Amino acid sequence: MIKKKILPVLILILFNVFKANAQVLNREGKLIAPTPPMGWMTWNFYGVNINEQVIKEMADAMVASGMKDAGYQYIFIDDGWQGGRDNKNNILPDPKKFPDGIKALADYVHSKGLKLGIYSDAAQLTCAGYTASLDFEKQDAKTFASWGIDYLKYDYCNAPSDAITAQIRYKKMADALRESGRDIDFGVCEWGGRKPWLWAANIGGQLWRTTDDVRDKWSRKTISKDNKIVTTPGAGILDILDQNANLYPYSGPGHWNDMDMLVVGLYGHKGPSADLGGVGCTDVEYQTQMSMWCMLNSVLAVTCDLTNMNAATKNILLNKDIIAINQDTLGRQAQRIIHNDNQDVFLRPLANGDYAVAVLNRTMKAQKYVLDLLNIGLGGKYDFYDVWKHQTVARGKSWTGEIAGHETKVFRLKKIN
Ligand code: GLA
Repeated sequence: MIKKKILPVLILILFNVFKANAQVLNREGKLIAPTPPMGWMTWNFYGVNINEQVIKEMADAMVASGMKDAGYQYIFIDDGWQGGRDNKNNILPDPKKFPDGIKALADYVHSKGLKLGIYSDAAQLTCAGYTASLDFEKQDAKTFASWGIDYLKYDYCNAPSDAITAQIRYKKMADALRESGRDIDFGVCEWGGRKPWLWAANIGGQLWRTTDDVRDKWSRKTISKDNKIVTTPGAGILDILDQNANLYPYSGPGHWNDMDMLVVGLYGHKGPSADLGGVGCTDVEYQTQMSMWCMLNSVLAVTCDLTNMNAATKNILLNKDIIAINQDTLGRQAQRIIHNDNQDVFLRPLANGDYAVAVLNRTMKAQKYVLDLLNIGLGGKYDFYDVWKHQTVARGKSWTGEIAGHETKVFRLKKIN
């Protein structure tokens, strides 16, 4: 006899093993998150020090800066908005931070043509110690729906470490969202430890974090004073790229690998991304983050101050040619075809028959590189359109040029008939 307690676990395992990647449809019968969600997230700039005023200002800036026109749509509220529960156990916002309540804020955000995301956790308390949703999944999902929430980031602090409990808890919230009466995208955030790419889509998630929190730095590996390579805690841009390179089979329309927030434009700003060695990056490195997050179909969650972006930051975040690759409707995450200490070459097909190819100089020194398309399995001749220069820079079977240290060149390849 199978014990009563084990039965639901067995059913869940069998369900996930035999079910193909689930595609969650909205109430109009359309796929939820057909392309990776794009927006601005509160966490890296404000930490828990958020309030309705700053969020409204960011919504205004998203429109005024041209970000909305470039495709950014969501304002994602992260941890720190909660203010406990009322005597009927309804979750409440902090009345000091959100005196008008979340519904009024959602109305404001919607009036700008944008969407609003919120945050909770699959335990009693969130990572920053605020009220979370365990055992209140249905009630909280209904509350979020009644406020007009469009997206939920669901964290995993203070929860048991095993993968089965995680699947059960995430499925419970995914089901609650589907029954809430509103279409709410569901972002799984357990940081990759339980391989969510194997199950998060099947339990009803549209995306899942794959790594630890990104810090505002290039790499865990730094050079010590006595010239030795040392590994430090805290994931940088390159670490997260390396951890996602082999996850391409799991990404596609409605189910995405989430490489965590963009640190572009933070320049070491004192906030959560400055912890664990997050000293800031160069604009070249930020451009590489944008290039690779787009090549690999990540969610694009900008975190710098939208009211005060310099020209370089705007140039990176508003580049429609690179965003078009992230939002390509084929939704095929780039595969790493060449990988060594000096270079990475990533390749992906695009919906209109073009290819996107990215070449990263992993070293700190500029290098001359010959990109020979035959070496990455592409026969024939192509136009090489450089998406950062916005012009065609070569025609034929190869491109030769210089790549600065930590720079990524991205080309859109169009076949020449
Ligand atoms: C975790 C998540 C972060 C952020 C914080 C909030 O660390 O991974 O993205 O949401 O919690 O406390």
